[in-house]
Amino acid sequence: MKISVIGTGYVGLVTGVVFAHLGHNVICMDKNEEKIEKLKNGIMPIYEPGLEEMANKSYREGRLFYTTSIKDAVEKSEIIFIAVDTMPKKNWQTDLSSVKKVAADIGRYINGYKIVVNKSTVPVGTGDLVGKIIKKNMKKKFHFDIVSNPEFLREGQAIYDTLQPDRIIIGSESVEAAMKIVELYQGMNSVIKITKLKSAELIKYASNSFLGMKISFINSIADLAEITGSDVTEIAEGMGLDKRIGREFLNAGIGYGGSCFPKDIGSLIYTAKSLGYDFGILKEVKKVNDKRVKRFVERIKKVTKLTNRKVGILGLSFKPNTDDIREAPSLKLIELLLKDKAKLKVYDPVAMENVKKVLKNKVEYSKDLYNCVDGTDLVILVTEWDVFKNADLKRIKDGMKGDLFFDGRNVYDPQIMKSLGFRYFSVGR
Ligand SMILES: NC(=O)c1ccc[n+]([C@@H]2O[C@H](COP(=O)([O-])OP(=O)(O)OC[C@H]3O[C@@H](n4cnc5c(N)ncnc54)[C@H](O)[C@@H]3O)[C@@H](O)[C@H]2O)c1
Repeated sequence: MKISVIGTGYVGLVTGVVFAHLGHNVICMDKNEEKIEKLKNGIMPIYEPGLEEMANKSYREGRLFYTTSIKDAVEKSEIIFIAVDTMPKKNWQTDLSSVKKVAADIGRYINGYKIVVNKSTVPVGTGDLVGKIIKKNMKKKFHFDIVSNPEFLREGQAIYDTLQPDRIIIGSESVEAAMKIVELYQGMNSVIKITKLKSAELIKYASNSFLGMKISFINSIADLAEITGSDVTEIAEGMGLDKRIGREFLNAGIGYGGSCFPKDIGSLIYTAKSLGYDFGILKEVKKVNDKRVKRFVERIKKVTKLTNRKVGILGLSFKPNTDDIREAPSLKLIELLLKDKAKLKVYDPVAMENVKKVLKNKVEYSKDLYNCVDGTDLVILVTEWDVFKNADLKRIKDGMKGDLFFDGRNVYDPQIMKSLGFRYFSVGR
């Protein structure tokens, strides 16, 4: 099938590359010329395991095209995916300007029947809005259908998730359009659920909010575990053995971040309010999360002062296997530590370049994990990369000036850390 994907960010690029890999003809379009130029030269604008090889193979074999021309993308395809950014405004209302711009361009260049598929995460009702904008901008009348096909990929394993999603949600008021998208997904071994357009839009928000709720719940239990002297990991394991609960998303830590959970939870609270519904549970989920990093720093300050202390920060991306630092807890943590005049050394396996753009020379950048901890008074682990999980802990201890280790992700065994001579603090244990 002839597909175009508008927006080649984490979602759009991975979607386009996977569809091309499955044998479809795909045009990946972005307004960012530098991104498209890089892609044409085989350089990926984001870090995602397995993406580069898959993209470059399909590009060489002529199934994948890159362009900055939305006219080309619209005219040459039958199915158009919208995968542009939908960042929140200050009040957490979703900024739909990119989606609206693409809808207007589709209307302007439409030249025959099209299925417009919204993959961006957008508030309920946006599908209808996109339809109205397309119609308003049409020079000549053409038939089109709107589909909502929310994306559930996890950065860091996006290729795997796109090839083998737990479920594919297809929301549309047109049975023909929905069936065409079902056909497009043939070859993926996954459950397909066809829903109303508006249900699909809400499934995405409901799913992310529910996962955020699990995280804030276990983090609250972690706080209670600290007060009572119990161990949150044991509690999570005990809870997780109940099939109705499950073990996933019950890892206590310094809170969720990234480009999805904070934004989607904030957006659902906003949308509910604008529809006259007070989403109290979600407000609490957000409140608990907003306090995580501050609480962690307060805990550190109960043990040591921070002024002029040399601190090694391990991990900057919001989670392992990605270079994404949007809403990363590390940035909040760094801001608070700098306020307390700590001297910071930082290291992340892939997010260093992104962090340099934000933090400039406010911190010292290390070339590897051991260089980062050398000579420090205390070390803080923020992101649970494998390289940290498998680190030579004795070498870390020997390199440090001090003995304090604060583990924001409960990666290490407290007994082992103690036996190596660390004063070790983790979350809820
Ligand atoms: N990143 C994730 O893990 C993830 C997962 C599921 C869903 N989503 C959702 O998918 C959407 C995209 O997220 P992302 O992380 O890929 O965003 P991103 O910021 O990485 O990429 C968006 C891309 O859209 C391009 N763009 C913006 N306006 C455009 C226009 N008018 N024409 C052409 N290109 C345009 C930008 O240049 C950018 O390259 C968002 O709604 C997000 O909430 C993201």
